[in-house]
Amino acid sequence: MTQPTHRKAAADLRSARWFGDHGLRSFGHRSRAFQMGHSPEDWASKPVIAILNTWSEISPCHVHLRDRAADVKRGILMAGGFPIELPALSLAEIFVKPTTMLYRNMLAMEVEELIRSHPVDGVVLMGGCDKTTPGLMLGATSMDVPAIYVPAGPMLRGNWAGKTLGSGSDSFKYWEELRAGTITEEDWQGVEAGIARSHGTCMTMGTASTMTAIAEAVGMSLPGASSIPAADSGHMRMCAASGRRIVEMVWEDLKPSRIQTRAAFLNAIVVAMAMGCSTNAIIHLIAMARRAGQDIGLEDFERASRTVPVIGNVRPSGTQYLMEDFFYAGGIRALMVEIAAFLDLSCITCTGKTLGENIAGAKVYNADVIRPVSNPIYAEGSLAVLKGNLAPDGCVIKPAAMDARFLKHSGPALVFDDYASLKKAVDDETLDITPDHVLVLRNAGPQGGPGMPEWGMLPMPKKLLKQGHRDMLRLSDARMSGTSYGACVLHVAPESFVGGPLALLRTGDIVAIDVDARSIRMEVSDEEIARRRAAWVPPSPRYERGYGFAFSKHIEQADQGCDFDFLRTDFGAPVEEPAI
Ligand code: FES
Ligand code: MG
Repeated sequence: MTQPTHRKAAADLRSARWFGDHGLRSFGHRSRAFQMGHSPEDWASKPVIAILNTWSEISPCHVHLRDRAADVKRGILMAGGFPIELPALSLAEIFVKPTTMLYRNMLAMEVEELIRSHPVDGVVLMGGCDKTTPGLMLGATSMDVPAIYVPAGPMLRGNWAGKTLGSGSDSFKYWEELRAGTITEEDWQGVEAGIARSHGTCMTMGTASTMTAIAEAVGMSLPGASSIPAADSGHMRMCAASGRRIVEMVWEDLKPSRIQTRAAFLNAIVVAMAMGCSTNAIIHLIAMARRAGQDIGLEDFERASRTVPVIGNVRPSGTQYLMEDFFYAGGIRALMVEIAAFLDLSCITCTGKTLGENIAGAKVYNADVIRPVSNPIYAEGSLAVLKGNLAPDGCVIKPAAMDARFLKHSGPALVFDDYASLKKAVDDETLDITPDHVLVLRNAGPQGGPGMPEWGMLPMPKKLLKQGHRDMLRLSDARMSGTSYGACVLHVAPESFVGGPLALLRTGDIVAIDVDARSIRMEVSDEEIARRRAAWVPPSPRYERGYGFAFSKHIEQADQGCDFDFLRTDFGAPVEEPAI
């Protein structure tokens, strides 16, 4: 079923409040538009489209977005809109410290307030590097003006010495080989120069590719947009097409609230699972759904994980391929055709058409890259949610990207309270550790990190690496990069910094996990846990002023999506439109 054609009248545009009437204020708005070289023909009766661009000169994933904004503008102008580019916080995953996750909600707030405070009828959201997709989507969802998401696109495959390199995954892999002494310093420099050879986001199935796929699956990007490599000319055409489309969306009044239904988010979870998604998807998707007023939680991921097979053979869950291969194999539309039985194809999308209409006719061109459901790379979903006395509110593991022998495991904990001491210890070749040990890091959650950094793929101890081991059970309240892999239990909630049971674990305690049973336990009696709790002293606060202070007062736990409590849709009365 396609959208009914209800056309908005020009007088009802939100921007008409700024440009439309004859008061002193609108005199100011119009005279200043004249000052910028615009004439009434440019704006009168036209939707004002804000291009919220997360381009910056220190965001390698977004370095082409300044040019692409020009393509978006071209589309907006062709369709009769009035484009204005509004720069927004860039959040370059690689450069921003301590972690971009500290600032995802800052971007979300900025986006919401940029839209609210300006004469904006519709928005084009330009991002792609990990936190930019959820940040942009969260803000636009709260404002609920027509919005379309333009993903930056994955970069081309990396290359070194005749080998294909994948973002993140191969940095970690070759770093461990360097530490194990199996590659030279010169090799390592070759990897460094070859791993990121075009603009665009990480081309593994990391958080960026996962989140842009989610944005598309939920219905907020044009069909196929998220699979197009940043360097492909199709990417420019997609940008222009998004510009054309948003103008129509304004006239159709097609807002996020009409697209982002519960069924649409469930579709996004299915697609994420089938792609072998980043664990970060869980946190962001929960936050996005809740902003849209949809109650999505860990149990929805757990349910999908038990039924949806991983069919996107893209690293790190997949064996060898990268996003460029995925695009040539047919991209996300083809993947959705393969898993159509798990999707609600009646969901309305930004095209005004249903998801089913958007993917009709898409074909798989390489059945090794996009596998048929009958030949998955992993039969169950890629993520599992575990619960138990160590994580009463849940934690996450990625069975599709780990050594299967740790799926059921118990071993003594080796606990570290901060990342610096862990890092030092793992380089000590005399460290008292065996392959059965469980390496534990705490104080790395939303409050403790602070900002829940991507430390969760705890580095393998050098001693074990030299013995030939490449995986072990690791446990933390941190996140890990979507390009990471290994038997890493993440997102333990509640986190240790606020007194979650992880805070009470001691070196030598036995930790037991059973992924099939979805359980995680410390083999410590309830009485002993109670004794330790009574003696527990909360750590001193991470911040006593500034943004970090506000963050620590309002950040929610991982299982709740790490949104700020006051940004939730149901928090307080709705904010009114600004007085003009
Ligand atoms: Fe930007 Fe990976 S660093 S997507
Ligand atoms: Mg990442």
